[in-house]
Formats: sequence, C-alpha cells, structure tokens
Amino acid sequence: MAEDARKDDGLPLHTALYLEPTYWNDRFTKEDHYEWFKDYTHFRHLILANVKPTDKVLEVGCGNSQMGMEMYKDGITQIIRTDLSPVAVKRMEEKSDALGYKEIRHQVADMLNLPYEDGTFDVVIEKGTVDVLFVDSGDPWNPSPDVVSRVEGMLKETHRVLTSDGIFISIAFGQPHFRRPFFEVKGLTWTMKWDTFGDSFHYFFYKLRKGTKDEKQGPSDPLPLQENSKVTFNLEHEYMDNEDYLLHSTLADDE
Ligand SMILES: C[S@@+](CC[C@H](N)C(=O)[O-])C[C@H]1O[C@@H](n2cnc3c(N)ncnc32)[C@H](O)[C@@H]1O
Repeated sequence: MAEDARKDDGLPLHTALYLEPTYWNDRFTKEDHYEWFKDYTHFRHLILANVKPTDKVLEVGCGNSQMGMEMYKDGITQIIRTDLSPVAVKRMEEKSDALGYKEIRHQVADMLNLPYEDGTFDVVIEKGTVDVLFVDSGDPWNPSPDVVSRVEGMLKETHRVLTSDGIFISIAFGQPHFRRPFFEVKGLTWTMKWDTFGDSFHYFFYKLRKGTKDEKQGPSDPLPLQENSKVTFNLEHEYMDNEDYLLHSTLADDE
C-alpha cells in the first residue's frame, strides 16, 4: 500500500497516511534523514534550559531525526528513543551504535500504549509526533471523536510515565489555542507553558510540568467551538519549503 500511496515527490497522497505504520516503515526504508520542523540548533537553548544531564528522557516518535543524538552530544545521555516503526528504530540504533553513543537505547513503542512503568521518566519529549495524531481532524475547533480519543490517550500515557514533577516537552506546529484544551484537560496535573522558535514561521516549544495543577481543574472535554472564528487549512506546497505544511492549520478571525 505504502509505495503507491506516495506521489513522485515522496509525499503521501493523503495526510491520513501519516497514521499508518506501513507508510512510515516504507519511508524510513528509503529515507536516511528528515528533520520535521527545524533541526536541533534552532531550539537547543530551550532544551538546555529545561532538561538536566541527569534526567531520564523518553523520546516518542523519533523517526530518523537527529534530535536525541544531539541531546546526547550536549551531555543528556540517559535517553530511550522510541517509534512505532521498527525500521526507524533499527536504523537509528545502528547510527547511534556506529557513533559510540552507548547509553542511548532504542525501542519500538506505541505512544498510545507505552511499555513503561508509572513514574519512569523525568522528561518525555516529542517533535512533530503529536501533530500526526491531528491529521484529518477536520475542524480543529471541533475535532472528531477519533482525534480526541487518540490525543487524550497519548497524553494520559505520557503523564503516567512521568515522575511526579517530570516535564513533557512537545515541539509542535499546532498553536496554543488548539493545544490548550487537550493539554489542560481534567486528570492531567500539568500546566501548559510555551516558547516559540523559528524565523519567518514560528514553531511551539510546549513545556508541561507534572504536579503544577490540581487534577480536578480544567475542562472534561476539549473546549467547544469558538465563535467568530474560522479555520483554514493551507495546503499550498509553495507555502513552505518542506512538508511541514501538511500539518499546518491557521486561524483566521472573521472580519
Ligand atoms: C512527523 S514524524 C516526526 C519524526 C521526528 N520526531 C522528527 O522530528 O523528525 C512522526 C513520527 O511519529 C511516528 N509515529 C506515528 N504514530 C506513532 C505512534 N502511535 N507511536 C509512536 N510513534 C508514532 C512515525 O513513525 C514518525 O516517525
């Protein structure tokens, strides 16, 4: 399926394919390196401000990104890099071993069902992985039940495997007004803070510190539609110089 589902330029015919393990396996078999959003140099200062060298780190959806290896070079060595794609995991393990990064471990893991005990990690980090759960979400103000259930499942799992004051770092395209209803839902004890990085286009570096909010606070469900706003999806290829645009949604206020 995956081969004929890709266009000549390697992009998927339908963004829903980003949810298919076969799409990613096929892609990682052929592609050596693709960095979603920006590479590490653009947000390194934010990593160093929020992650300590002694922290136990879980990276979810590592793909073939260099991020975990760059963190290792910065002295953050206790990293488990995971992805749903066994191809990605095997290739990243080979690369890491060849470079002698012995402490980095690699595992196949589904972020919706993480194979780790409660309270295992000081940091869970992802870049562009949560965004994948939002593809085909329709109206981002009123996401479909499937999207809500996927994203909530991922966030609950992340929250569960963090230590009592651990931090979830989400490097994402999705804007704060769309993410807050998910991140701050009842049952999760973190509070959403963020920085931005990037030049002409801004990406978001979300920081969610567990234990900073009462679990009873927050909406039970993602917030309802906001009035007087409409959302447009910008799918023009020339809009960006890579496929980030496929995950992009913009908010436009009605005049
Ligand atoms: C947009 S790519 C981002 C890759 C990488 N983090 C980066 O910054 O370049 C999304 C990644 O999420 C992985 N993925 C998709 N669904 C997943 C799931 N349920 N659990 C873990 N990883 C998943 C894909 O295999 C892919 O590597």
